[in-house]
Amino acid sequence: MPQQLKTCRRVIEDDEFYTMYKDVVRELHKYDFRGKKIICPCDTKESNIYKYLKDCYYDVRYSNKDWRSVDYSKYDIVITNPPFSQVREFIRFLVDKDIKFIIIVSDALRWSIRKQKLSFGGGRIYCGKDAQNFTRPDGSIRPVHCGWISNIPDDWGENKLICGE
Ligand SMILES: C[S@@+](CC[C@H](N)C(=O)[O-])C[C@H]1O[C@@H](n2cnc3c(N)ncnc32)[C@H](O)[C@@H]1O
Repeated sequence: MPQQLKTCRRVIEDDEFYTMYKDVVRELHKYDFRGKKIICPCDTKESNIYKYLKDCYYDVRYSNKDWRSVDYSKYDIVITNPPFSQVREFIRFLVDKDIKFIIIVSDALRWSIRKQKLSFGGGRIYCGKDAQNFTRPDGSIRPVHCGWISNIPDDWGENKLICGE
């Protein structure tokens, strides 16, 4: 797809809801990522997810390209808040490639997974902390009911299994 169309699509679909630093800390402090290579495929260097992981001296990269074009074989885990408009495709992609992930999704999606109305290959999905407010490009804060999910357990054993055995 030409770059201009891609840019246009992003603007129309308006996926610009940025994760707050405190919502990153509340979830990611439960994991020890030492020795892991982390990719944040829907992030820039301004992303608080990237900033937090960098602040913790983890081996983390962000991606300036389409998340579909990332070479995931170079990384151990994906951590991001993916575009809401592509989230189902994004999860299917990761599950199909057996990639470990910790991501933010809407509460509606978490509910659909929990109620087995939506399945991503039947693997395990854990539910983490809520994230209820996001920063918009103009600096304003917008409430959106979301939260973290992952296909790996956290190191504190705090997250609840919502799908899989
Ligand atoms: C919900 S926002 C979250 C941004 C950032 N990850 C954060 O947590 O603050 C999703 C981001 O994905 C970007 N995005 C949209 N389509 C994308 C694509 N195909 N590949 C990578 N990023 C994309 C959007 O521009 C947007 O900034």
